[in-house]
Amino acid sequence: MQATAEHKTRANADTGTDAPDALVFLESEHRAVEKLFDAFKRAKDDDLDAKSTLVQRACEELSIHTILEEELLYPAAQRALPDSDKLDVEEAYIEHFLVKTLIAKFESMKAGDKGFDATFKVMSEMVGHHVEEEEEELFPELRKTKLDLHELGAKMVTRKAELQRKLDAVGSRSVGDNTARL
Ligand SMILES: [Fe+2]
Ligand SMILES: [Fe+2]
Repeated sequence: MQATAEHKTRANADTGTDAPDALVFLESEHRAVEKLFDAFKRAKDDDLDAKSTLVQRACEELSIHTILEEELLYPAAQRALPDSDKLDVEEAYIEHFLVKTLIAKFESMKAGDKGFDATFKVMSEMVGHHVEEEEEELFPELRKTKLDLHELGAKMVTRKAELQRKLDAVGSRSVGDNTARL
């Protein structure tokens, strides 16, 4: 919480706005998805409604999150980072590709189907690994660059609102169908 307040204060001083630091913003999205993974672990085996809702929400959050990073963070990171750190961004793109492949698998599965729980478990493990690499390697490397993280944060807030509106407009019945349209 202290980091957030500190970043906000700096944003106000620098830009006259309360744009969040992009990395703090993305970290809060990581925490939100982790909560959904934890809730799924605690869900009763036969509570298919709860499982279905949790998977739906996680896929929606992850779809928006991957778009924000791929459209805004990773290209900026590739420009700002020294060559020695660019491999971390390339790895991140590949890991996103794998997560999106698992999201797409849910198009043809519903809670209770064979493979539903296993797919979500593998997704949570992959996302956990990816988030750890972002927060322990990529994000600290970016903090050492001159990248304007508040300007980037402002762009993320705007783009997220736009993506959320699109998602709301298509409804949330089928994860794959909806996220493919974003
Ligand atoms: Fe990522
Ligand atoms: Fe991320």
